[in-house]
Amino acid sequence: MSNVLGVSALYHDAAAAIMVDGRLIAAAQEERFSRRKQDRTVPWRAARACLDLAGLTMAEIDCLAYYEDPAMKLDRQMSMLATETRPQVARELAARIDPYRPFRALRESLGCDRPIRFVPHHMSHAASAFYFSGFESAAVLVLDGVGEWSTSSYGFGHVDRGIDLVEADRFPHSLGLFYSTITAYLGFDVNEGEYKTMGLAPLGKPVLADRLRHIIGWNEDGDVRLDLTYFDFLGLRRMWSPRLVELLGQPPRAGEEALTDWHADLASSAQSILESVVLQKASRVRERTGARNLCMAGGVALNCVANARLRQSGLFDDIFVQPAAGDAGGSLGAAAQVSRDLGSAPPVRRLRDVYLGPEYSTERDVIPVVRAANLPFGDFRIRPDELLDDVVRRLAAGQVVGWFQGRMEFGPRALGNRSILADPRVAGMRDRINGLVKLREAFRPFAPSVLRSHASTYFAGGEEHPFMLETVQALTDSLPAVTHADGSARVQTVDPQTNPRYAALLERFWSQEGCAVLLNTSFNQRGEPIVCTPTDALACFARSRLDAVVLGDVLVDVADVPPSLTASITARGKVSAFSDEPESGRALAVYELA
Ligand SMILES: [Fe+2]
Repeated sequence: MSNVLGVSALYHDAAAAIMVDGRLIAAAQEERFSRRKQDRTVPWRAARACLDLAGLTMAEIDCLAYYEDPAMKLDRQMSMLATETRPQVARELAARIDPYRPFRALRESLGCDRPIRFVPHHMSHAASAFYFSGFESAAVLVLDGVGEWSTSSYGFGHVDRGIDLVEADRFPHSLGLFYSTITAYLGFDVNEGEYKTMGLAPLGKPVLADRLRHIIGWNEDGDVRLDLTYFDFLGLRRMWSPRLVELLGQPPRAGEEALTDWHADLASSAQSILESVVLQKASRVRERTGARNLCMAGGVALNCVANARLRQSGLFDDIFVQPAAGDAGGSLGAAAQVSRDLGSAPPVRRLRDVYLGPEYSTERDVIPVVRAANLPFGDFRIRPDELLDDVVRRLAAGQVVGWFQGRMEFGPRALGNRSILADPRVAGMRDRINGLVKLREAFRPFAPSVLRSHASTYFAGGEEHPFMLETVQALTDSLPAVTHADGSARVQTVDPQTNPRYAALLERFWSQEGCAVLLNTSFNQRGEPIVCTPTDALACFARSRLDAVVLGDVLVDVADVPPSLTASITARGKVSAFSDEPESGRALAVYELA
């Protein structure tokens, strides 16, 4: 018997996960509850939600599993400090060094006196992939910015023998930090904007790749070496040095400055290098381990285009990428590793879905919030088919609909439970959603959800993609709103067994509209975490003027939302959606109507 609470925190994208006797019960990111994007604080709200879902109290937790080893990290920090010659930077580095902080912060913020085990960062990533892959044995590849020392690791996992990992690259030589540096140069946020670099790449040509080879080199094994004179991520102020500006011949892009062809060329060049290195690394892993299957995690494993190239390479028969491959997923891996160490090995079963967060009931949670806001609503509790018909009719008429149902997704993607949906066949839909609802860069493509049984009609490959982790080529030009400039799409295949209601909506769209695909983007506005509670969803819906929102079995039409409500919500900024009092335990309406 073991109840293990996994935690990732204090860097970015804090999260909690609970495993009971080796079974994954719940996982969630702190940002969804605190409403602070990429919240890095100890995830006490997420931990509480996970405990609730597991029906446990903190006192019943046998062990906390933390996603990195502070002692190993201290070693790296001391080494950075020893080589830093700039007094101000050295002072800032020294101020950050506090190896007891995780221990203290976990104790204080979680109010938990249970034992804590520290799992090395790359082992947490590796475990998050291997123990949820369903493979009895497989090669493992971890690629991220930096763990304690490691920036890339590889090894072999076996259900009986566990995971053996070997360090391939060591800080500061890091493929992830190279890509993040170019991301920062393009004016996007590190640890978040890497998707934008990847999305921008197909609009350019890799004409700057030769120049970038001055700053990153690699051998036949894919081991990377950065020329540190071009970087300054040790300096804590920015990622690049003046020498990189000189080399590239164009200054870094600032804030909202317009993107040009040159920026697209730079993104394309960095992307081509990343793909080449990933392929080299994967081929070394294949050679050294002899394994036919591969598991991947770490932030670089979220690069859908590189993942697609890896699959197409045929190096491996099957590849499993942990859907929460970034640091949030470290909580999952740490919990799995410690569960195994305590004698509760995770079952050999592939993770089929990531609906691991809290769920809200229509009756108890949704209707009180809608009523408190004085909004008329359609109540479909005893006629769920009519709700689907209503939504299909709206989508077919070009409406944009918020779709909130079931347990919240874990990881960066909305997969049909906290989504905004639209008709992918409408050419202007991308601009409409980008301009009015998501307020994000026009070049970024939206993703399609497709019924698993119809996927091969629309997209090449025919594989299952439940987590939107790979791009595939569209086989039709009838889906302009979800197809990128190069004809690719980051597809999600939807299976009735894992998400029956979303699949039923797609089936109905197919039977009534002859299209088994919907545009699916995350339910949030730019700069805001994906919605968690019905209150978050209602607030986002009203602020962004979506045409309608479905909250469980309830539908609200934007025509019924008075401008005073929208103004009130906008004026308040972020709506506090959840009381911090443990006993309240449900969404609270906080609107002040004029
Ligand atoms: Fe990481």
